[in-house]
Amino acid sequence: MPIDVNAVGFDTLAVHAGVSVDPTTGAIGPHIATSTNFAADYGTIGFSAEGTEDAVPFAYAREGHPNAAQLESRLAALEGAEDAVVFSTGIAAISGLMLQLLHPGDHLLVSDISYAGTAEFTRGFLRTHGIEVDVADMTDLDDVAAALRPNTRLVHAETPCNPVLKLADISRLADLVHSHGARLIIDSTFATPVATRPLEMGADFVVHSLTKYIGGHGDALGGAVIGPADSLALLRRDVAVHLGGSLSAFNCWLIMRGLETLPIRMAAYADRAHRVATFLEAHPRVTRVRYPGLPSHPQYELAQRQMRSASGMIAFHVEDHERFGSGLKENLRIFSFAASLGLSRSLILEARTADLQRTTFQLDDEHLRRYRDWAGDAFFRLSIGLEDPDDLCADLDRALSVL
Ligand SMILES: Cc1ncc(COP(=O)(O)O)c(C=O)c1O
Repeated sequence: MPIDVNAVGFDTLAVHAGVSVDPTTGAIGPHIATSTNFAADYGTIGFSAEGTEDAVPFAYAREGHPNAAQLESRLAALEGAEDAVVFSTGIAAISGLMLQLLHPGDHLLVSDISYAGTAEFTRGFLRTHGIEVDVADMTDLDDVAAALRPNTRLVHAETPCNPVLKLADISRLADLVHSHGARLIIDSTFATPVATRPLEMGADFVVHSLTKYIGGHGDALGGAVIGPADSLALLRRDVAVHLGGSLSAFNCWLIMRGLETLPIRMAAYADRAHRVATFLEAHPRVTRVRYPGLPSHPQYELAQRQMRSASGMIAFHVEDHERFGSGLKENLRIFSFAASLGLSRSLILEARTADLQRTTFQLDDEHLRRYRDWAGDAFFRLSIGLEDPDDLCADLDRALSVL
């Protein structure tokens, strides 16, 4: 018998939600169903996907398949939501949701700082398709209020945001956005539902790059939109069916497996990140550390209120950025210089303000000033993995010794 998702705890949902014993084989774990097609009775399906969702559980895998359905119900259970739709990547989920909700002439308000792909998609592609796009500092509600317009349909924020780890106060932001008749999307990739459940705080949609903490092993791309069933039914039809960014059965299965250990991995990431952040903060060559789990984070009080776990991402500044950066290849044995996050392996990445401003953020003077106040000219971002924290500190110590 399937579990009652309302009667068990979060860790149990991470292991069991969406899967029950297979009636044919008795298997207790999910099978991978790779078939692209599912047989139906005469008259129930036709040449178009239109109407098949009510007639048969699955018809053609682009429109839905058993592994996607399992993953979607597990993600919905973990976020306390009615439904979820999974996509081939995180950016497919974000772009799909925006394309479905926005029409030419609508206004989108997006965070001044976000994942590069989201920043570039909104400032570039959406504008060329007739959507009006402005940026606001999502940590400052006055700045958000000043940027809202009568035609604002959507507001998009990340918390913690990539790459600088600023936080948005979800419930206060949701109140403000709703009072203007718009809807709020929260990208919770850095937090995961272990740390924060944005829908319970008033957000309308949660998006995730499943590629990161949720999949957790760096071997499967994926994305999800999680929210109310009526909106997600339209999203499934318009975007999953018509734009075709569906997630493969194998990746769904890998990500389901990742989810089973998400609660214990997040605890381990946060524990190790706290150790590394504390080490960096005490290091004489490190000039600034941003980690939501340290009291030195400017929004520590909000982090304590909104995040059950500080997660595993750290940003830090060093005395001589160039020198430190050029010694990384030689000195690091454990950290890889790579752009992703949320893996078992620890990663380090550089963020240079001038480069990001030119290629990605395209901020006006006021928002660039705010960004520089927080991030300076350049910093390094760490994604802490599951290695021994003493080894991680020793690796960074060796790299810092060039300074
Ligand atoms: C916060 C955030 N959202 C979305 C994405 C996009 O995810 P994907 O690479 O799976 O398309 C990323 C990727 O780094 C991210 O960091």
